[in-house]
Amino acid sequence: MRLKKIPISLILGILISTLLLFGCSSDQSATDSKDSTVSDKTTTGASAEELKSFTKEELAKYDGKDGNPAYIAVDGTVYDVTDVPQWKDGMHADKYEAGKDVTNELNTQAPHSASKMDGVPVVGVYAG
Ligand code: HEM
Repeated sequence: MRLKKIPISLILGILISTLLLFGCSSDQSATDSKDSTVSDKTTTGASAEELKSFTKEELAKYDGKDGNPAYIAVDGTVYDVTDVPQWKDGMHADKYEAGKDVTNELNTQAPHSASKMDGVPVVGVYAG
């Protein structure tokens, strides 16, 4: 009789602990995954909203002349080329001027690809 009682209480104890542990851990992982989904969305939304939109007239102010910063638009993105040596004083290859959308010139006249824009700071989007 004594031998029978010990295993039953042991089994019951293990069963209850297992159920409690399983219930708690699955609750936590459900909460964790919800949290990360929410923060992912917030981060993406915030960074998109921070980008300034430039009209043709606004972009024209950033020509790199007289101490102005030098910005160019390529494929709808506005880049800050002020500190790019090849765009000194807002001029590139003696013929291209900052403050403009130079997408067509880059695609049709440059001996290099748009990969030259990699790593150049992005300051906004171009609205035209
Ligand atoms: C940050 C952006 C850019 C950088 C760092 C850059 C850099 C260079 C460099 C190093 C060259 C010498 C040749 C070579 O390495 O392929 C070059 C040539 C050239 N680039 Fe760019 N470039 C940039 C953007 C542009 C854009 C947006 C255009 C279009 C307007 C452009 C048009 C040209 C042209 C036409 C040449 C040939 C110039 C000549 O041989 O007379 N580049 N560029």
